[in-house]
Amino acid sequence: NQPQELHIFKDNTLWQEAVIGFIVDVISDSLTEKDHCSISLSGGSTPRQIYERLAKEGVKRGINWETVHFYWGDERAVPHTHPDSNYKMVKEALLDHIDISAENVHPMPTPDQPESSASVYGLELQTKFAPEGNSFDLSLLGLGDDGHTASIFPHTDLVREQRAWVKEVYLEDKDVYRISVTAPVINRSRYIAFLVTGRNKADALKEVLHGEENPEEYPAQLIRKSPNVHFFLDRDAAGEIEA
Ligand code: 6PG
Repeated sequence: NQPQELHIFKDNTLWQEAVIGFIVDVISDSLTEKDHCSISLSGGSTPRQIYERLAKEGVKRGINWETVHFYWGDERAVPHTHPDSNYKMVKEALLDHIDISAENVHPMPTPDQPESSASVYGLELQTKFAPEGNSFDLSLLGLGDDGHTASIFPHTDLVREQRAWVKEVYLEDKDVYRISVTAPVINRSRYIAFLVTGRNKADALKEVLHGEENPEEYPAQLIRKSPNVHFFLDRDAAGEIEA
């Protein structure tokens, strides 16, 4: 396995700076070959600070938001107005503060949109991306303390899903439904960046990076170890791991 790119920062500001710089670089790199860049956004809490800074600094750093298309790597099956909605979090942190057309924003379907579904979103991605080529230019991912990423949770059939591009999953222990892009589609991103901070992630991260192959237990291991996978870590999450 190729080593992943590990970027470890002792303080939060340096960590944020590095992530923002990476995103700006991927956008400009993508625009050398085509007229827009596709970014898949992660949810949860870690990335919010990055989305807020992108809202404030993106234009200053040369981003033309009309050249960026936003997708979601996963979503909770709740309306966009629900506090758990990843779309709502991104809207409040980023979308409400930048000039971007509605056509550039591709929220995942929610249960209150009967006409849409995980497979409809999957079809949208399949029409957008060639089946063999790259999928997103950039996939931002988080890491759960149980080793999940996107909504690919341990011991769910999403861990083994190789065919569907987007799939719904029911999490028994949480009694909630989620929708997630599957590992094969994430792995075809031109760049992948895990954003992982906090001591509570250190054990899972160690298993993902250096543990024995056990994707049922640590699904983030599915995201292939190769030069296009970058980990942006703070010291707490990295533990004794060195870059
Ligand atoms: C979600 C995310 C999920 C998240 C991890 C880490 O919908 O919750 O996509 O995969 O990235 O659970 O979450 P935190 O960043 O909040 O720790």
